[in-house]
Parts: sequence; C-alpha cells; structure tokens
Amino acid sequence: MDKRTTTMIVVLLLSVFAGMPALGQILDVCTTCHANATCNDKSDGSGKVCNCKYGFVGNGRTFCQDKDECQIGASKICGQHTTCHNTYGSYYCTCLAGYSPSNNMAIFIPNDGTHCQDVDECRITGVCGKGGQCRNLEGSFECSCLMGYRVHDGVEPFHPYRDKASCKVVDCGQPALVEDTVLLSLTGTTYGSVAMFVCNEGFVWRRGENSSVCGADGLWRGPTMVCEEVDCGSPPALPHSHVLWNESSRVGTEVLYQCNSGYHHVGKGNVSVCTAAGQWEGPSVLCQEILCGSPPVIESTEQMWNGNSTPGSTVLYLCKEGFYNKGGHNVSICNESGWWTPPALSCQAKCGPVPFLANSEVVWHNRSIVIHRCVDGYHSWRGSNVSVCGSSGVWQKATLRCIERKPPINQLFVLNEKCVHWKAEKYEEDTEVYKVMYTGSRDYQRTFIDKKRQLVSSKAHQLELCLNLLPVTNYSISITAVSARFTATVTTNTSLPVPPAPVVYYREFETPVPTLRLHRLVNTLDPISLYQVFVLPLEGIMVFECPSPGSLDPSRKSKSSSEYIAAQIHVTHVGTEMNFTVGDGLHYGGFYNAPLENGRDYYIVIRAVSQWKTVLKSSCVLWAKVRGTSFVLKVSSLCAVASVGLVALAILCGYSFTWFLKKT
Ligand SMILES: *[C@@H]1O[C@H](CO)[C@@H](O)[C@H](O)[C@H]1NC(C)=O
Ligand SMILES: *[C@@H]1O[C@H](CO)[C@@H](O)[C@H](O)[C@H]1NC(C)=O
Ligand SMILES: *[C@@H]1O[C@H](CO)[C@@H](O)[C@H](O)[C@H]1NC(C)=O
Ligand SMILES: *[C@@H]1O[C@H](CO)[C@@H](O)[C@H](O)[C@H]1NC(C)=O
Ligand SMILES: *[C@@H]1O[C@H](CO)[C@@H](O)[C@H](O)[C@H]1NC(C)=O
Ligand SMILES: *[C@@H]1O[C@H](CO)[C@@H](O)[C@H](O)[C@H]1NC(C)=O
Ligand SMILES: *[C@@H]1O[C@H](CO)[C@@H](O)[C@H](O)[C@H]1NC(C)=O
Ligand SMILES: *[C@@H]1O[C@H](CO)[C@@H](O)[C@H](O)[C@H]1NC(C)=O
Ligand SMILES: *[C@@H]1O[C@H](CO)[C@@H](O)[C@H](O)[C@H]1NC(C)=O
Ligand SMILES: *[C@@H]1O[C@H](CO)[C@@H](O)[C@H](O)[C@H]1NC(C)=O
Ligand SMILES: *[C@@H]1O[C@H](CO)[C@@H](O)[C@H](O)[C@H]1NC(C)=O
Repeated sequence: MDKRTTTMIVVLLLSVFAGMPALGQILDVCTTCHANATCNDKSDGSGKVCNCKYGFVGNGRTFCQDKDECQIGASKICGQHTTCHNTYGSYYCTCLAGYSPSNNMAIFIPNDGTHCQDVDECRITGVCGKGGQCRNLEGSFECSCLMGYRVHDGVEPFHPYRDKASCKVVDCGQPALVEDTVLLSLTGTTYGSVAMFVCNEGFVWRRGENSSVCGADGLWRGPTMVCEEVDCGSPPALPHSHVLWNESSRVGTEVLYQCNSGYHHVGKGNVSVCTAAGQWEGPSVLCQEILCGSPPVIESTEQMWNGNSTPGSTVLYLCKEGFYNKGGHNVSICNESGWWTPPALSCQAKCGPVPFLANSEVVWHNRSIVIHRCVDGYHSWRGSNVSVCGSSGVWQKATLRCIERKPPINQLFVLNEKCVHWKAEKYEEDTEVYKVMYTGSRDYQRTFIDKKRQLVSSKAHQLELCLNLLPVTNYSISITAVSARFTATVTTNTSLPVPPAPVVYYREFETPVPTLRLHRLVNTLDPISLYQVFVLPLEGIMVFECPSPGSLDPSRKSKSSSEYIAAQIHVTHVGTEMNFTVGDGLHYGGFYNAPLENGRDYYIVIRAVSQWKTVLKSSCVLWAKVRGTSFVLKVSSLCAVASVGLVALAILCGYSFTWFLKKT
C-alpha cells in the first residue's frame, strides 16, 4: 500500500473518533485533540491546548497533517547512501542496500550523527558459496572462484544473489593410464588430488615423478615416470660354481647354481630369482671345497696319509706295532660327499709267545689261538685246550692241566701181608669200581688154590683193602679199575707163621709105655708141618728151647745130651685125634721111639714144626710127665735169644710148672 493512502485512512479514522466527544458535549479540551496531537497546558496556565505532534502541522483538533520532510531529497536530509522515509509527522532514514548505519540500528535520524557506511559483505563466510572468493565493493561485493574451482552457470565476477552462477570444484576425473604403470593410490579426482603410480610388474622405475596431481585446469599433471622392463642381466658369477640359466633375464626367472666338482654347496639356497628390482635375488650359494677332514681313527692302527682330504684322497691303515691285521678294509677314501668311507681294519693285539702250559705241547697256533696238547706220558682231564689271545694282548690261557699219565691204579703194594694199597688215578669226584681178584698158589701143595674176588666202589684216591690171605702162599692180586678198564697186578707171598701147637691132654704117667693123646685142628700149614715128639729125661737143671732144641746146638748139647726125638710125624698123617705111645720101639719118620728106661722120669714135649725152604717155625707143648725122680727146668736166658717164632719154656719148681709164652 502506498504510504500516502495509508495516511489517508488513518486520517479518516481519527476524524470519526474526534467527532464523538463533541457529540457527548464533554468540555474537556484534551478529549478533542487530534489523534496526532498532544494535549498541553497553555503556557499562561489558562487551560489545555491541543498541539499537533512533532512532524505534523494542523490545528491540533480537527486535523494534524504530516509534513513530508523527505521532499528535499534523501541525500540532503539523511546523508549519502540513504533512503529517506517520511512518516506522519516525521521521517527516518535507512541505509541503502550494501550500506549499514554507523549506529548499527535499522533506522536513524541523521541529526544524531549517524551515517551510512559500506557493508563488507565478504566478512560473511561462504557468501560466495563453496570455492567462492568474495571481493567487497562500495555498497556491494562480487564473487570469483578460488583456485581449483570454476564458475558454473555464469561468468566471473558474479554476484551470488543476483546471478545464478556459482563456483564448482575442479574435477580431473579418473587419471589416465600411463604405460607400464599401475595406479597405486588415489586421494581423489578433484583439484589437488594425488594419484600414485608404480611400475608394472616386470618393469622398473628409471626416472620421473611417480605421482600425478589434479591441476586447477582439471587436468592431471604427470606422472612423468619412466618404467622400463626389468632386465636382471646375467646372473652374477659365484666362485666355484656354475649357473644353469635359460638366458631369460626377466623378472621371475630362476637360475640354479651348482657347485663345481670338488666343491659342495653350503648355505641355504642354490636358486637365484630375477627380482622386480631388476636384480638377481642375492644367491646365498656358497661353494666350499669338499674336504673330508681328518680321517677316522681306528684303534690300534696307524695311518698312512699324505694329509690330503679332497675327494679321492686315500688313507691306508696299518696295524700298530704289537698288533696284527685281522682283516677288514684297510683303506678309506674321501668320497664326493666329503666323507671318508668307513674303514674297518681290525687289529688284534699280539699276545706274544704262545703261553706255556706245563707238560704240554702246542698242536697248532696262529697268532690268536693256540691249541695245546699234553705231551706223551701226560694226559688232561677236562679244561680247555685252547688259549685265546685277548683283545688286551694278554693270553687267556687254556685251563688244561697236564697230569702225568699214570695207570688208574698205581703204587699197588701189599702191606703186612694182608692189605693191598693203591693209588687211584682218576678225575676228582669220579667213583671208580675196582674188581679185586686174588689167587694164591703153593709150590708145596699143587692142589691148593685160593681164588677169591671182591668189588670195591670208591671215590678215594688212596685205597686200602685188607684181604684174608693165607700163609706161605704166593699170591697174585689183580685189581681192575672197571671204568678205566685197567688192571694192575701185584704178587706177594705170605710168610711162614708159627704153627699152632696141638691141643694136648696133659697127663702124668707111671708107666714106661704111656699113650698120649692129642687133638688138633686142621691147619693150612699142614702140608709143611710135622710133629716131633721129644723125650726129655729129667736130670739136673734142664733147658728146652723150642725154636732150637738142644740137639741142634752143639754148645749146649752136653747139658742135655740125653734128650732125643722119639718120633717125627707129618701132620697130614695125623687125623684130628692122635694116640701116640712113647717107647713102643718103632720108628716114626726115621726116628727111633726107644723104650723108656725104668726108674727114670721123663718129660714128653711135642713140637710142631713148619718149614718152608730155609725158614722153620715151631711151637712146643708139654705133653706128659712120666714119673720117676724129681727134676728142675731152669729158665734160660737163651729164651731171649730166640729169634723167630714162639719160645716155649717149661719151668718146673718143685711140683708145679708154668708155661711161658713169649713173643720176640
Ligand atoms: C495521525 O498520524 C498517523 C501517522 O503518524 C496517521 O497514520 C494517522 O492517520 C493520523 N490520524 C488522523 C486522524 O489523521
Ligand atoms: C618412484 O618410485 C620408485 C619405486 O617404485 C622409487 O624408487 C623412486 O624414488 C620414486 N621416484 C620419485 C621421484 O619419488
Ligand atoms: C626361463 O625360465 C623362467 C622360469 O625360471 C620362465 O618363466 C621363462 O619363461 C623361461 N624363459 C625361456 C626363454 O625359456
Ligand atoms: C638345491 O638345493 C636343494 C635344497 O636346498 C636341493 O634339494 C637340491 O638338490 C639342490 N639342487 C642342486 C642341483 O644342487
Ligand atoms: C690291505 O688289504 C688288502 C686286502 O684287503 C691287502 O691285499 C693289502 O695287502 C693290505 N695292505 C696292507 C698295507 O696291509
Ligand atoms: C660317502 O661316504 C659316506 C660315509 O661313508 C656315505 O654316507 C655317503 O653315502 C658316501 N657318498 C657317496 C657319494 O658315496
Ligand atoms: C686264528 O684261527 C682262528 C680259528 O681258525 C681264527 O678265527 C682267527 O681269525 C685266526 N687268527 C689269525 C690271526 O689268523
Ligand atoms: C681239544 O679239546 C677238544 C674238546 O675239548 C677236543 O675235541 C680236541 O681233540 C682237543 N684237541 C687236542 C689237540 O687235544
Ligand atoms: C713162590 O714162588 C717162588 C718163585 O717162583 C718159588 O720159589 C717158591 O717156592 C714159591 N713159594 C710157594 C709157597 O709156592
Ligand atoms: C717171598 O718171596 C721173596 C722173593 O720172591 C723171598 O725173598 C722171600 O723169602 C719169600 N718169603 C716167603 C715167606 O716165602
Ligand atoms: C685113642 O685111644 C682112645 C682110648 O684110650 C680110643 O678111644 C681112641 O679111639 C683112640 N684114637 C685113635 C685115633 O686111635
């Protein structure tokens, strides 16, 4: 609505209200004041007066009309860059667009000193929009685009409110592919974005920039990099090796390093690869000369070695002094793998001279084994007959013992004409069975044969066997060791014993032809025994020596010259009982049995005599007394002289007598 029209309407309304009080006949002047008037006291104090308000001119009651102050021109009344606004009764000023009042109020009245100054629209950020750059102008501004932005829908400079134009960011779009490269990274496609490139696989960077930048002009700058296809060239030569290579020097090509003959490969890889960096990946191949080192040591050996330990070198092993070769590999060769082939020489210690075993001889030997055997006349029982040379060079001697070869029965002899003794020759604990046979024979008794046998089983080494040997017999005793099947024989003879005296029935007779009785036991000596009947006239002191009756001794013959042998009878002719009559005048065995003299006293002695060859043994017994006068039998010291057999002495003292038997 036009301001003027508005004013008119207000005036109309005020006219309506102004008439109302008049209608009510209210004499208050103030109520009659124009709407745009004020009621003031009169200066003289005589009432009230209506005065039009400031800027209004009129009577104060019926009309108060606006005064248009702006007519004189805004720049004159409000100042530069202003617009003058007339109001009822007043006016006010506003700044033109692009200016702002210095009092920072929307409106102002110029006479308060306010003026309109240029507004710096550029102070408002973003006034030109994103990417826009503001430039302040007097009462206005203009926009242009920043670097990386370009005006859109218009030209520069532009006004963002007035024009449709705006700034839009520069976009270079996807970076173009560059030969032999690969886009590695991209920060964006807009201005300033960076694209990083790397060389394609198999290509290597040579020179230039790897990056491309989006320029303000919307074009990518770069990359300028130059990638060249990788060429590793020839693989590096390494000492003592050769390369297996297919002549390709492109990335990924592998080459194999092989050590030259006599060298071997140490370290990890034997392959080298051509890397993207255009280099052969450091082959760690290390070829070392193959060396077998020191040859293995074998006990008891010495090495013949020239010190060379390259493949093909050899070492010869020899047994050390004091050892000899028992066989096995005596050579070790350094092989292609750098190892000495296993030698296996076996050296045995020499045990020195063959061990000595008493009474033995060596049957066979080499340096490690000796077989022994007992020498003639010696034999072995059990035990090993082999000596073995031990690894320490000491003989483990045979356990064989050589024992003098003796008959299984030896030192056979007869002791005391009764017991056979012998030594057994046998292995300790063995039991031997001996068969003992003995045969007795007599030259004087052709029919005689004493043949007996006996078995003895014993472990003993000393044996004694007592036999019941008969006297005056030649014995042949043979002892057979049954398991040894050995027989030893010994002969022995038994001696002549004193013959047993017959059992007589002593009597005293008063007759010159007494018949005497005797009883005897059959004795083995009978064939060489006889009885002699002695007649001893009793006169003075008399001595009768049984072993050598007086008649045999010339020195004593005188003393007892009267004694005589009345009869001599072979015992074999005598039965177990015999009656003999003394003085019957007959001849017995060449002796005259002379009649006894009357009145004389006699002793009758019977003497048993056994004789073989030169040996004679006798025993005597007083048989009878033929009564006459008394006589004394003196104990003779000769009895002690008697050398063999029994001495029978008759001692008569008064009317009694005693027989002494004395053994010498
Ligand atoms: C009084 O003045 C105002 C402007 O200040 C105007 O709008 C109004 O119409 C006037 N009143 C009358 C009754 O004329
Ligand atoms: C480009 O990249 C390579 C590796 O791909 C590097 O060696 C080289 O220095 C880089 N060049 C520049 C100019 O940055
Ligand atoms: C050589 O060997 C590599 C592998 O190591 C293979 O990729 C390549 O094709 C071979 N080149 C030729 C020419 O045979
Ligand atoms: C290369 O080395 C590997 C193991 O490292 C081995 O198995 C292969 O035999 C070697 N090749 C040659 C030719 O030496
Ligand atoms: C080594 O052993 C061989 C047979 O194995 C033999 O012929 C050669 O004589 C031995 N050499 C020496 C030095 O003992
Ligand atoms: C070399 O000798 C060692 C040990 O004696 C053996 O293990 C290896 O197999 C040998 N190598 C060759 C190539 O004969
Ligand atoms: C000796 O003989 C034995 C048995 O025949 C044999 O085992 C051993 O090797 C031989 N020793 C020597 C040094 O000949
Ligand atoms: C050694 O003893 C064995 C049995 O122990 C025997 O067979 C061998 O004949 C004996 N050798 C000699 C020479 O005595
Ligand atoms: C015993 O033998 C010897 C010699 O042959 C002989 O002279 C002697 O008469 C014999 N003795 C007996 C009692 O046979
Ligand atoms: C036994 O014999 C020996 C000699 O053969 C002889 O000297 C000895 O007198 C004899 N003894 C007897 C009692 O026959
Ligand atoms: C010995 O004499 C006695 C009687 O005086 C008589 O009985 C006996 O038979 C005689 N003996 C012999 C062997 O004549």
